[in-house]
Amino acid sequence: MIPFILDGTNYTCLLVGRARLVQGEPFKNCADRQSSACCLYNVAMKKMTLLGGLTPTQFLRDYWHKKPLLIRQAMPEFQPLLSRDALFELAARDDVESRLVTHFKQKWQMASGPFEQLPPIKQKDWTLLVQGVNLHEDAADALIRQFHFLPDARLDDLMISYATDAGGVGPHFDSYDVFLLQAHGQRRWRISPQKDLSLLENMPLKILRNFEPEQEFVLEAGDMLYLPPHYAHDGVAIGECMTYSVGFRAPTFQELGEAFLQFMADSIDLPGRYADPDLTPCKHPAEISRPMLAQVAAELNKVRFTEDDITIFLGEYLSEPKASVFFDAPAPPLSLERFVRAAAKRGVKLSRKTQMLYRGKHVFINGESFAAGRADKAALYMLADTRSLDGTTLAQASQDVLDALYTWHQDGWLNLG
Ligand code: SIN
Ligand code: CO
Repeated sequence: MIPFILDGTNYTCLLVGRARLVQGEPFKNCADRQSSACCLYNVAMKKMTLLGGLTPTQFLRDYWHKKPLLIRQAMPEFQPLLSRDALFELAARDDVESRLVTHFKQKWQMASGPFEQLPPIKQKDWTLLVQGVNLHEDAADALIRQFHFLPDARLDDLMISYATDAGGVGPHFDSYDVFLLQAHGQRRWRISPQKDLSLLENMPLKILRNFEPEQEFVLEAGDMLYLPPHYAHDGVAIGECMTYSVGFRAPTFQELGEAFLQFMADSIDLPGRYADPDLTPCKHPAEISRPMLAQVAAELNKVRFTEDDITIFLGEYLSEPKASVFFDAPAPPLSLERFVRAAAKRGVKLSRKTQMLYRGKHVFINGESFAAGRADKAALYMLADTRSLDGTTLAQASQDVLDALYTWHQDGWLNLG
């Protein structure tokens, strides 16, 4: 028996408070539209098919970052969001990250895209992995937004894998939390809580040296497996299959520390220059003198950082688009007046590629930070949380907000609804 299997089809919809939240439309019917707080409370308490009938609160308490969860029919009657050919077309683009993993004649090999040509689909033992599909396809973006009970700051991307029979990427572990949704065909997963995470040497990809699976199950279209970081797993295609991985990133403290020091380099202010009017003749010219060291140490110790510095750093860091992301400016560009008129009618929505976050008065969008005035915060928070603003809300927005939206529109960060 597998204790953590949940069956999404047993789910009955729960009405919480005054708002029933519809999957994919998290803020519909919310009486207090200016405040995301009531909606987020309801999200936390709502039983979700996606989570096998658990509420987000239960899932986060019992499984998230702790142990696996297999959810049968998390997305009942799920149909792939894009065809095999459409996926192959994405893999041929140079603005899309893709990898090909083959295990021909028992030898692991990996190549990076773009791929003009792939092995024949009749050939067994190969897998194509396409990263960041949510950046290019509306339906893929809508799929990952169903995980809105988890912070955007943790959400990484939707990776789609296509495998021919027996294809897989070998037994390994990930550093991310991941939801593995079976989109098409079947895949056999074997998983293990093993502590030995040592890897085979001289391999083109991460392969566990000693994989000792403890559980095994076959996922069908619509089934989903959640795995916490560092949980050993191996998924092997049974016939042709496609698997969607919704990944949640967790930066290492080392990478945060290095990026923070770079960020501080741009903002520190240390006036003056080293001076030694009291210099005396030196016996050891190669030695760094104690007074020189003391003077420099005293100045460097003036470097301080506040919680505000950390907030701005973190918001800019977490909202920074990946290097492969490019935004498309609107063509032809609109004047400010025409944009405001159109936005009041149609509303606005963030581009799929935009990451918008906030904390206190700080609003972050695609690696840039802004200090929002008290009156403007509600609209900007709502845009960040729901990724859209309707015309009625925009009609009440300040000129500062409209100017910011217009700039973001010109940059291709935000579109008319
Ligand atoms: C795959 O989809 O083939 C691999 C996903 C994973 O193991 O993380
Ligand atoms: Co994995």
